[in-house]
Amino acid sequence: MHRFPLSRRSISHYSTLVLASFLLLASGLFAQDFKKQVIYQIVTDRFFNGDTTNDNPPQSAGLFDATQTNWHLYWGGDLAGIQQKLSYLQGLGVTAIWISPPVDNLNLNIPDSNNNPTASYHGYGARDFMRIEEHFGDAANDWTAFNNLTSAAHADGIKVIIDFAPNHSNPDNAGEYGSLYNNGTFVAACNNDPNGIFHHNPDIGNFDDRYQLQYYTLEGLCDLNQENSTTDSYLKTAIQQLQSHGADGFRIDAVKHVTWGWEYSMANTVFTSGPSFFFGEWYQGWGDPLYHDSYKFANKSGISVIDFNVNQAVRDVFASNNNFSELDNVVNTEDSNFTWQNDLVTFVDSHDVPRLLSVNNNTNRLIEAQAYVLAGRGIPVVYYGDEQYLHNDTNGGGDPYNRNAMTSWNTSTTLYQVINLLAGLRGSTNDALGYGSYQQRWINNDVYIFERKFFNDVVLVAINKNDTTSYPVSGLNTALPAANYTDYLGGLMSGPSITVTNGSGGNNPVSSFTLPAHSVAVWQYTSSASAPEVGSIGPTLGQPGVVVTIAGKGLGSSTGSVLVGTTTATINSWSSTSVTFTVPNVGNGVYSVTLKNSSGTAANTIQFTVLTAKLIPVTFTVNNATPTNTGDYIFLTGSTVELGNWGTTWDTAIGPMLDPNYPNWFLNVSAPAGAQIQFKFIKIAANGTVTWENGGNHTYTVPTSGVGYVNVNWQY
Ligand code: NOJ
Ligand code: NOJ
Repeated sequence: MHRFPLSRRSISHYSTLVLASFLLLASGLFAQDFKKQVIYQIVTDRFFNGDTTNDNPPQSAGLFDATQTNWHLYWGGDLAGIQQKLSYLQGLGVTAIWISPPVDNLNLNIPDSNNNPTASYHGYGARDFMRIEEHFGDAANDWTAFNNLTSAAHADGIKVIIDFAPNHSNPDNAGEYGSLYNNGTFVAACNNDPNGIFHHNPDIGNFDDRYQLQYYTLEGLCDLNQENSTTDSYLKTAIQQLQSHGADGFRIDAVKHVTWGWEYSMANTVFTSGPSFFFGEWYQGWGDPLYHDSYKFANKSGISVIDFNVNQAVRDVFASNNNFSELDNVVNTEDSNFTWQNDLVTFVDSHDVPRLLSVNNNTNRLIEAQAYVLAGRGIPVVYYGDEQYLHNDTNGGGDPYNRNAMTSWNTSTTLYQVINLLAGLRGSTNDALGYGSYQQRWINNDVYIFERKFFNDVVLVAINKNDTTSYPVSGLNTALPAANYTDYLGGLMSGPSITVTNGSGGNNPVSSFTLPAHSVAVWQYTSSASAPEVGSIGPTLGQPGVVVTIAGKGLGSSTGSVLVGTTTATINSWSSTSVTFTVPNVGNGVYSVTLKNSSGTAANTIQFTVLTAKLIPVTFTVNNATPTNTGDYIFLTGSTVELGNWGTTWDTAIGPMLDPNYPNWFLNVSAPAGAQIQFKFIKIAANGTVTWENGGNHTYTVPTSGVGYVNVNWQY
């Protein structure tokens, strides 16, 4: 099935801003659809030292290793360094950077088991989310370097994605014991927490247990309690502050370990202030028992996820030489489950896995894998240094040996050129990569040919990963119109030309050809749109007043209209590729949105969920619920779209709820602020049978701000 997923995009709308609203305005004006972006992931400390005055700041002296031999200390990379390398990144063709958590983190050395010093050079040990880390900015923990980077990046057409880690502060058993500060004022620590800012549970032992995942401690990192009103407002103020300083989007660290319901309200808070894009690190392996939870979350929260399943398959296929059928199966299964599959964030390498070249030191395989990700479905990431074939194979190349210092800036490597070409194809030449469907066209163990298609725009990609064997390809069909096609990569990876002849039903035969060993070929066709074509909406949900962007092709240069259901929305901006509108005052629910050009010609419709109001995290508890057997769960369902609109299936009801105090169940749910809601609890048995509690509906008025708590008994 062909679906047209979300994205976020541009606008210049903002209302209640924390700081420096002009910066948001500037970035908003310039923001674009993330489906057409290529993201470059940077470990800030390891990229480039642009300012030596911050190498060894006084408040955290001794954590810097100028010799770059202790891989757990700071090596000097900083925000100024990224700024100084923007032209290198522009040349590479990437259009967004994802940088390490930039906020002030742990100041103290925590010695490792060999008594060697370690530091939070990676940024995942925050102490003050309101300030910038002194090694990345300046000794005053000021925003100057951050502002300079976002402004310069925007001026160069590059968006800035901030790694935001709302799950935790810093280690709970050493150093600063998780100490959290609010712009310099102490809030709490794991060993000093009278107001419940943190959870105080053991380390997660069972990664398949929903309660442990969200409420236990991840790797000894002091675990924030997002349901506490102080913690809730602290984190939301912090993320809006980053937004106001020019962050165009957020990668949510450990998204599976933060309270899931609360995260809906975190994203909603940002969308209420202005345009953004969210993707979360929902780590999983293929066959993970919580796979269903991952796509329910991605489909409903407004937060996309990093595609670890495709990553595993890509690594298996290209580094470990598994058959292409593994990758084909994963993509097709995911595409039937994820509503917004073109927003899944795909990658080859990251700071958490060994670089592919450490697994298999075969440069061609890395290029083939990266080309697959750049042309495949989802928003592609390039991990810094891959274009330079950077790798250090100590201990298999895993963390920290995958966080290498960048040592060369060569703009003529083959991979640098392949990235540049495919980023251009995705970003401006052919909308099939950002918005299109995905179809396997030809496959054997070594060869994979897939097609992306968005209306009449088509990209056909062929990869042969065999190191020595070329393959004859016959019986291949494509939606490319009859013509001769040369390789879009210009033969950089030995791609041949092909001839397409007329067939029927979108299946045009490709004359038999030979695909050389170690090759990537890209053939593409694009034509102008005869009617408006919509490929993206973002955010995918929002209350009346939120500004939403529709992106696509041929929308027309003069202003047309947007209908949410049958209600005409106010248009804020209009271009042939991007339109922004304000969610009108209509009842909550799932709507079809229709864009019409100025002549009244309608585009394909796209789904959007109108929320009742801004989202507030509310913790619902039901005591002494009806007994359950293994595989049965209690869910909540209620009177608004946020509460499932009385749905009674796993996907439509809210849950499953959590039962650490069985037979009492609880769940944190983002509910509409100020709304009077009705709800009930249901049991969905393992076989799907639904049991309602008896009696009348429960009623509750959601607070207009802050957090809420509801505690009721199951009605027998
Ligand atoms: C996942 C990050 O990607 C990883 O590098 C980090 O250590 C953990 N989350 C904890 O923040
Ligand atoms: C059906 C349930 O049986 C009832 O309890 C509930 O109030 C309604 N659905 C809500 O429409």
